[in-house]
Amino acid sequence: MQNEQEAGQRISALREQIEEHNYYYHVLDGPQISDRDFDLLIQELQELEAKYPHLITEDSPTQRVGGEPLAAFSSVGHRVPMLSLENAFTWEELQDYHQRITRMLDNKQVDYVVELKIDGLAVSLLYEEGRLVHGATRGDGYVGEDITANLKTIRQIPLQLKKPLTLEVRGEVYINHDDFEKLNRERSERGETTFANPRNAAAGSVRQLDPRIAAQRPLKIFIYGTGEHNLEVNSHYKMLLYLQDLRLPLNPHWEYCPDIESVMNYCRRWMDKRHELAYDVDGTVIKVNNYKWHDRLGYTSRSPRWAVAFKFPAEEASSMVRDIEVNIGRTGAITPVAILEPVQLAGSTVKRASLHNEDYLKEKDILLGDNVVIRKAGDIIPEVIKVDKEKRTGRERKFVMPADCPACGNPVERLPEEAIVRCLNPACPAQAVERLIHFASRRAMDIDGLGPAVAEQLWNNGLARDIGDLYYLDIYSLVSLERMAEKSGQNLLESIEKSKQNPLHRLLHGLGIRFVGEKVSRTLASHFLHLDDLAAASLKELEDLEEIGPKIAASIVGYFEKGQTEVILNKLRKAGVNFKEPVTNTYNEELAGKSFVFTGTLTMPREEARRLVEEKGGRVAGSISGKTDFLVVGEDPGSKVELAREIGVRVLNENQFRQIVGIS
Ligand code: IVH
Repeated sequence: MQNEQEAGQRISALREQIEEHNYYYHVLDGPQISDRDFDLLIQELQELEAKYPHLITEDSPTQRVGGEPLAAFSSVGHRVPMLSLENAFTWEELQDYHQRITRMLDNKQVDYVVELKIDGLAVSLLYEEGRLVHGATRGDGYVGEDITANLKTIRQIPLQLKKPLTLEVRGEVYINHDDFEKLNRERSERGETTFANPRNAAAGSVRQLDPRIAAQRPLKIFIYGTGEHNLEVNSHYKMLLYLQDLRLPLNPHWEYCPDIESVMNYCRRWMDKRHELAYDVDGTVIKVNNYKWHDRLGYTSRSPRWAVAFKFPAEEASSMVRDIEVNIGRTGAITPVAILEPVQLAGSTVKRASLHNEDYLKEKDILLGDNVVIRKAGDIIPEVIKVDKEKRTGRERKFVMPADCPACGNPVERLPEEAIVRCLNPACPAQAVERLIHFASRRAMDIDGLGPAVAEQLWNNGLARDIGDLYYLDIYSLVSLERMAEKSGQNLLESIEKSKQNPLHRLLHGLGIRFVGEKVSRTLASHFLHLDDLAAASLKELEDLEEIGPKIAASIVGYFEKGQTEVILNKLRKAGVNFKEPVTNTYNEELAGKSFVFTGTLTMPREEARRLVEEKGGRVAGSISGKTDFLVVGEDPGSKVELAREIGVRVLNENQFRQIVGIS
């Protein structure tokens, strides 16, 4: 009979062994023991843990498939933002990149590490003292969702590292081709909808609220780098070896390339061989090897300068144009869409393809019944790129753009400077429905369950004529909609309720102001911090902002001048929709040890600003260096702003500063 101490020791030994065999099986693909022996180890551990339940820890291999479904994911702020990469589409663009950074590095010989660009979704894993404590999605790059329970189901991810390190690693979750086919087959046999491609399947799986469902999905992961860490490693090459040594699952095909020629060879080789891989790759990622140079090169607002993605040319397929329909967007743009003979392309079945606009149709001379070549590039919907005229039979017919809007019957117009035909009727139902869909979309207000079908019904039944109405729906009217059960109605209401808490930049994006997309919304939100302040802003004030040109500024001012806007905003306000941007979401709340520099005139005395920083454990310095965390900018700032942007120091205006130190 074991005593508790012996049991504890045995439990530790078992966990270590199980972790080890997991690694051999799932990462190295080379099991060292039989499945049966492995199961016996798990079983023994389970029995001991059942006897001594207080010895169960979160990182025990028995806890991979976690408990109860979650009601919602909580948010996780990324201390180091998860940015995206600049793309190079041609050899020239790649050469340009190399020359540009070589110049920035005083013409030193730059060496690289090149990796495959896995087409999945980015995640971050946080280890504290060697234990996996958090797993998160990229989200908007600054705030992601806590998907720890789902990521723990991926057997390749160690729950416990070989060393008690505190570090964040990042990687790509994906699904293999074979597993994807099988998953879809099983789903269609059960009468469920199938996924369009492996990436969607992976993304849908990591966002399951029930980890038991995620556990049944064949998710895999490749780690490709780090987030926040304090490892003393000075090159990416060494970092990859280090991560590999920690038994993290790395893609084996990375290579060290001493010069740009060998980088290009790598890209060329994998462009040809990519179909031999068991998973989707959409290009390569080229990373400067030396970390000292990463610091020198820094970041643009969107991406690091020390890396670039080389995108493989888009895949093409042939099909036939069965019909041409027109699509009405939320701004009234009427665009032709080709209805195709279904064809397989880059892992999914394509039935529709964009024809862009009337001029495109004419220029490419696309007729109904034509054989065409279609192309898909990344996320973008496929497009028709050319007609195979040799296959014409003479039975093809010309398509004529409608003179009236097919949704509202109003005559359409083509403004002289635009290639697009528009329905200028602001009350056009098709536009209104598109606005609802856009408002609810994932990257805007993220309202689950409000897709095209529901939006259309809400409009048709008079339940939501604008986005403001969404916040006044009730379960009685929802269940009157077709195919809306009580449960899905409740879920929709919950999701709408939850969206009230979204930060301002999401709301702004959702409003659908022309030229105000995700990025501009973020810029506006972090500058104005409150929707009412943005609404009151003058043209000049807007144009003074970086990245906001006259066209965008005019569109914003025009939007807030409309009477209809006021009506909608009042509905949102009354419903309690949040109009503020929480600065703490995008910036670290923890100011201890952070270094601040001030420039320009603040409305508060400098001494007061210094006191506020120091009270929180931060420091104030006179000039910018690599160690500066924040530059706070007042009126008439000096040249420090430029420098800060160049070396990637975060720039705050006074409002943001006030929020971050907690006085507004
Ligand atoms: S490095 C600052 N390496 O591509 C971003 N990314 O647009 C550094 N990806 O969001 C990313 N394979 O999800 C890196 N070997 C690889 C990658 C990779 C796929 C994804 C990643 C990122 C996106 C970049």
